[in-house]
Amino acid sequence: MTIPRILLISGSTRDSSTNTAALRTIAADAGGEFETDRYAELVALPQFVPGEDADPPVVQSLHRQIAAADAVLFCTPEYAGMIPGSLKNLLEWTVGAADLHDKPVAYVNVAYEGRGDAAVTTLRTVLGYVGADLAEAACGRITVLQNSIGPDGTVTDAEVRGGLHDAARTLADYAVRSRDAAR
Ligand SMILES: Cc1cc2nc3c(=O)[nH]c(=O)nc-3n(C[C@H](O)[C@H](O)[C@H](O)COP(=O)(O)O)c2cc1C
Repeated sequence: MTIPRILLISGSTRDSSTNTAALRTIAADAGGEFETDRYAELVALPQFVPGEDADPPVVQSLHRQIAAADAVLFCTPEYAGMIPGSLKNLLEWTVGAADLHDKPVAYVNVAYEGRGDAAVTTLRTVLGYVGADLAEAACGRITVLQNSIGPDGTVTDAEVRGGLHDAARTLADYAVRSRDAAR
């Protein structure tokens, strides 16, 4: 059985993002349990335009990266009561090609307790709309403090690191079970 591959998508465009740091940490700690790719083209994606004949190369790259993944893990901030427009834009690009249909997905909310809940609600709405297969057991809150990000851009707190790894491993296990069940 091949090792499950998780595409990690941050909804933040900020260099020192806590969300991106969480995903960088998951990638660093993957070990042999799962493989990761970090999506790095959120800022490069053009605004979604429906009905064009051919998707731009950067959008084709998005389709390919999702297709190559057994699962997708999102970490996103909340902007003005919902997911950032840039992440919504990415998700709109996936609608026509049904990239996320039946794809195992999960999210980790890295915000403080009481923050980021509307991002979760709106992300769940969009993921439901695109027909993603939400791995509930892998979803949750693991707060990442800005001052817990080390010089290498990963989270230094061991407990947080462990929680992030557990979330990704839970998603990877879910993806393997889904893949096996589909055979
Ligand atoms: C334009 C803007 C709007 C924001 N709106 C909200 C909000 O509605 N709710 C919330 O909990 N946090 C809000 N925040 C705070 C961000 O979610 C928070 O700073 C988060 O840590 C940013 O994620 P990052 O560290 O990955 O960049 C907002 C921040 C910005 C820049």
